[in-house]
Amino acid sequence: MSEAAAAADVPEFPPPRDRRCPFDPPADLVARNDLPLTKVRQWDGLEPWLITRYDEVRAVLTDRRFSADPRKPGYPEKTEAYGASVGQDRNLRTMDPPEHGEQKRMLIRDFTIKRVDEMKPAIQARVDSLIDDMLAKGPPADIVRDYAVPIPTMVICELLGVPYKDRDFFNHHTEICMSSDHSLEEATGSSQELYDYIDRLLDVKAAEPRNDLLSRLVVEQLLPGVQTRREVVEMARLILMAGHDTTANMVAMGTVALLTHPEQAEIMRGPLSKPELSTAIDELFRYVNVTHTGRRRVATEDVMVGEQLIRAGEGVIVMTNLADRDERVFPAADKLDLWRANARTLMAFGAGDHRCMGAFLSKAEMEIAFATLWRRIPSLKLAVPFEALSFREEGVVYGVRKVPVTWDT
Ligand code: HEM
Repeated sequence: MSEAAAAADVPEFPPPRDRRCPFDPPADLVARNDLPLTKVRQWDGLEPWLITRYDEVRAVLTDRRFSADPRKPGYPEKTEAYGASVGQDRNLRTMDPPEHGEQKRMLIRDFTIKRVDEMKPAIQARVDSLIDDMLAKGPPADIVRDYAVPIPTMVICELLGVPYKDRDFFNHHTEICMSSDHSLEEATGSSQELYDYIDRLLDVKAAEPRNDLLSRLVVEQLLPGVQTRREVVEMARLILMAGHDTTANMVAMGTVALLTHPEQAEIMRGPLSKPELSTAIDELFRYVNVTHTGRRRVATEDVMVGEQLIRAGEGVIVMTNLADRDERVFPAADKLDLWRANARTLMAFGAGDHRCMGAFLSKAEMEIAFATLWRRIPSLKLAVPFEALSFREEGVVYGVRKVPVTWDT
């Protein structure tokens, strides 16, 4: 086969989604679960391998011969803007062991179940006050603006010790960095704005440390000289960004999923035991899985993945959202089923060294957000036809722009 013919055979990534089924990954990609591994062509002409099956996704993410370091040749960066801004950060997301483990140890205390349990009353109070506001104002409300965005914003502020009054500033710049709607200059500018903002906060924390993650990083890492100022800022910026768009879009998309599956919303209305609620939320994470652009890695040695040899220096796009639709693991995978017995084996938070540090926290936010919303506003429904919703396909995180809702008064 000529080079041109071979190149024409490589499908473009990502293919568009089918707007009629906004929860489903593109059908072309789902079909790959039954095919041998293939390469795809991404925005910069690079042709990484696409990994979609559950077992292979887990195998790659837990294999240290695959590196998460974007400086390595062959690493398939998500977008040009992302590569020039967020992807350039040196932080635990982009480090390999042993450096990665050293960074993770500095944070682990702030992400334990115990710490998350301590935060739950504050999350519940915030969620209740958002619903109080919606009820006081009366319908319609926009779930994205009035509920899904403020919840993780408040949580990140509390966790990091970032002033809540600055939320519009960092939400705006985070959105620009994570979306591919914006130019390279805009993304780099926003990334720098966030950097400078956190950099200034370090002085505030040094002068008056509190019980928050940023203060701990300043007191335990920066002041004794364990970490440089740059390292501390990049770590804090990662957390500010990693936990925000993901959870906000999960709350918004999860709400749409329940509103369009009334029999499942009925289950959420409860009553549900703790384990039942936990399963229901895992299933929402599995079904909606907003991290739709794949985890990115590059092979540092020749590695067999299933039947396929992946050579050193070749990139891989590891699709956790397709793993979560693998019929071998999740029968009737395209069905939302809040009783699904094995929902907790979901891949939405990744696997291996880089598995999401915020998984417990995000799950706590979702449990409180959904249980409270359906308990307090059981008659919640869409205020516009489903077809009028506009989904955000182009960003690093999948989502929906607005969710107008109404309820019986
Ligand atoms: C809907 C909610 C969330 C989803 C679906 C999600 C998903 C993920 C995934 C798939 C990874 C793995 C990245 C990789 O393998 O390259 C990851 C990593 C990470 N997440 Fe999350 N995340 C969520 C919420 C959060 C929250 C709330 C925080 C913190 C406040 C957070 C902090 C992190 C951090 C620090 C990493 C990097 C871990 C490492 O590289 O070792 N995430 N997340």
